[in-house]
Amino acid sequence: MTSSGKPDRAARKLAFSGYHNRPAEGADTFLTAVGPGTPCGEYMRRFWHPFMLASELDDLPVPVRLLGEDLVVFRDRSGRLGLLHRYCIHRGVSLEFGIIAEQGIRCCYHGWHFDIDGTVLETPAEPSTSRIRHDFCQGAYRVVERHGLLFAYMGPPGETPEFPLYDTFAFEDDKLAPFKMNVPCNWLQITENACDPIHNAFLHAIVSGQQFAPAFKVMPALDFLRTPQGFLSMATRKVGEFVFLRAGEIIFPNVAQFPTGTNPVREESVLGHPTLTRWAVPLDDYHSLYIGAVHINPYSRARSERLEDYGVDKLPFIGQTADRPYHERQLEPGDYDAMVSPGPIVNRSNEHLGTADRGVVQFRRMLAAAIKAVQAGQAPELPRLPEHGRPVVTYAHETVLRLPHGNALADQKAVAEFGARAAQVFIDLDMRASVERNARAADKIRNALDEFCMREAASQAGQEAAT
Ligand code: FES
Ligand SMILES: [Fe+2]
Repeated sequence: MTSSGKPDRAARKLAFSGYHNRPAEGADTFLTAVGPGTPCGEYMRRFWHPFMLASELDDLPVPVRLLGEDLVVFRDRSGRLGLLHRYCIHRGVSLEFGIIAEQGIRCCYHGWHFDIDGTVLETPAEPSTSRIRHDFCQGAYRVVERHGLLFAYMGPPGETPEFPLYDTFAFEDDKLAPFKMNVPCNWLQITENACDPIHNAFLHAIVSGQQFAPAFKVMPALDFLRTPQGFLSMATRKVGEFVFLRAGEIIFPNVAQFPTGTNPVREESVLGHPTLTRWAVPLDDYHSLYIGAVHINPYSRARSERLEDYGVDKLPFIGQTADRPYHERQLEPGDYDAMVSPGPIVNRSNEHLGTADRGVVQFRRMLAAAIKAVQAGQAPELPRLPEHGRPVVTYAHETVLRLPHGNALADQKAVAEFGARAAQVFIDLDMRASVERNARAADKIRNALDEFCMREAASQAGQEAAT
C-alpha cells in the first residue's frame, strides 16, 4: 500500500490481483453533467439540438426531456411549434395534459393559457382586473423543424445562434431518412464512439462478425486532423492494390458524420458524401438520443434506400439498439452494447488509454477548453459560426485510389502521412460538399499520391544504395 491508501503499482500488476485493481467510485462530471447550471450543460445550451422526429408529433402535446429539463412540445392549431417547461407555473400540472389552442396551449386544471413563447394569455379563474398574467410567464424555448427533425435551442435567448445548415443537407438528389435511437447512457459515450476509428476494425470486422466490409479488417493508420468545426477521425488502410481513407467527422459539440462502412474497395472513388449525420443529444446525464438522418443519394451507399427501414429505434445496421435477443447481442455485439455496457456514465479514472485512443483524448481536451471558454464568458473557438444564410462547409469523406505500384506506402508511417495529406486536400479546398468538390479533390489527391510515391521510391532507392 502507498501512504495514500492506494495499492502500489507493483501490487496492481500481480496475477489474480483483482483485489488491488477494484474500480474507483465517483466519476468526474465536468464533461458529462448537462443539467442547468453545470459547466457542460451551459456549454451545450449554446447550440441547437434535435430531440424528436417531426413525424412523432401529431395533434397532442408530447412530454420530452432534454438537457435534464422536463418539457412539453406541441404544434398549436395555427401550425406553430411550442416547447414549454412541462409543469404549469400556476400549480404544477403537466402540460402534456394541456388542451392545444388556436394560439398556444391551455392548462387543463384551471385554464391558464400560454402562447408558444411562454406569454400568459389568460388566467380565466382570476378577476378581470387581475394583473397576475403580466407578472409571470411559462418557461419556453425556441423550436424549429428541419430535415424531418425538431430542434431546440435552450440557451440564453439573446445569444440564439443561427441554425447551422450543414452542406451535407443541401445535396442535390438527396433523400433524407430521419432516425432516432434511445440510448441509456451519457452523451459523451456516444460521441467518443465516433472519435474512435479503430473500433471499426475490431467491433465491426474482426472480433464481432462482419458488420462492415472485409476491407475494415486491415489495421489502419489513424490520424485526427483539425477542421474549422472540430476534427476528422481518420483511418487509412492499404487494401490490396488500393489505398483506402475513411474520414469520419466530429463537429463540436455533438455532431458526427460518417461515410458508409460498406465500401468494397474494388475501384477508385473520391466522395465527400457521408452516409449519415447524427447528433448525440443528452436527455439527461444518463439517457441520450442518437438522432439524425441518413443521406440516400447516388453516392452515399446507404444500407437501405427504403424510408420505412428508418425511424424511432430503427436503423438498418446491426447492433444499434437493444432489440435483439440477449444471447445474439452477446455473440455479435454492436455499437449499442459497446456504448451502453460500461454503465450510464463511464468512470474515466478507471481507464487505461493507449495510442489508438488519441482521438478520444483529443476530443476530451477540446471539449474541456470549450466548456472553460463558456465559463469565462467567451465564445468557444469551435465550431466556426455559419456565415449568414450560407451552408456550413463540412469535410467527412471516403477515398479509394489505386497505388502506382506494389511497394507504394510501404509502412504504416507512410500510410498515415499520405492519409493526412489527402484529407487536408478536402479541408484546404474549403468548398461545400458537392460532386464538383469531389472532382476537384480527386485530381489533387491523385497528384499528391503520385508525388508522395515518387519521393518514397527515391528515398527507398537511396537507402538501398547506402546499404
Ligand atoms: S395548474 Fe395549470 S392552470 Fe392551474
Ligand atoms: Fe461503430
